[in-house]
Amino acid sequence: MTPHIEALKEDIANIVIMPGDPKRAKYIAENYLTNYKLINEVRSMFGYTGFYKDKKVTVMASGMGMPSMGIYSYELFKFYDVDIIIRIGSCGSYTDKLNIFDVILTDSVYSDSSYAKVQNNFTDNILHPSLEVNNIIEKTALENNIKIHKERIYCSDVFYKEKDDFVNKYETLNCVGVEMESFALFHNANILNKKAACILTVSDSLVTKEATTSQQREKSLNDMIKLALESALLIN
Ligand code: HPA
Repeated sequence: MTPHIEALKEDIANIVIMPGDPKRAKYIAENYLTNYKLINEVRSMFGYTGFYKDKKVTVMASGMGMPSMGIYSYELFKFYDVDIIIRIGSCGSYTDKLNIFDVILTDSVYSDSSYAKVQNNFTDNILHPSLEVNNIIEKTALENNIKIHKERIYCSDVFYKEKDDFVNKYETLNCVGVEMESFALFHNANILNKKAACILTVSDSLVTKEATTSQQREKSLNDMIKLALESALLIN
């Protein structure tokens, strides 16, 4: 047990699929896993461990933002011996080259967050996922006919900004969209010698102001969920 997770060590698989929303974790368990059980209820940050085909996997929520993702991913890697975390989340798009519901495989993340600096004095603004896990996800996407865009994303500390200079983030920093968790996840994986990846579905566009309803989002996430789970089958 940790301050934020009540599960027994043996009740968490070595691979964790991590949506932001606890209800999404529940949805994935109920619709994709067999023989699953609820392994965490602390703060309603639900986690479930079950089987996808014959692979034992845990699906657990991260909550929103780097502080929350930072806590859960650290505890899972460090105290539950988790080897791989695949985040599956939503993002806002900075370019009309990406449509709502498109799937992004994050190949790097830029952030101006203080997370890594405060955590261990790491001062770079760019972090990468595990190339090995990304290669598996890419291969799985190809085999399952799921189109993915391999791109850099911006990881933000702030959702509501008084002024959002996203054109600069796109044109100068090459970030195609924005989410709020991957930088903390990738940093924790790096310092603890673990592996992480991040798959995102575009849920809204900062360019066209198009948005999705929470109901639409639930449905559209099925491609991304399948991609994460099918990839898990190929990871030891
Ligand atoms: N900003 C930050 N995070 C997000 C967004 C956004 O517009 N959309 C989905 N996650």
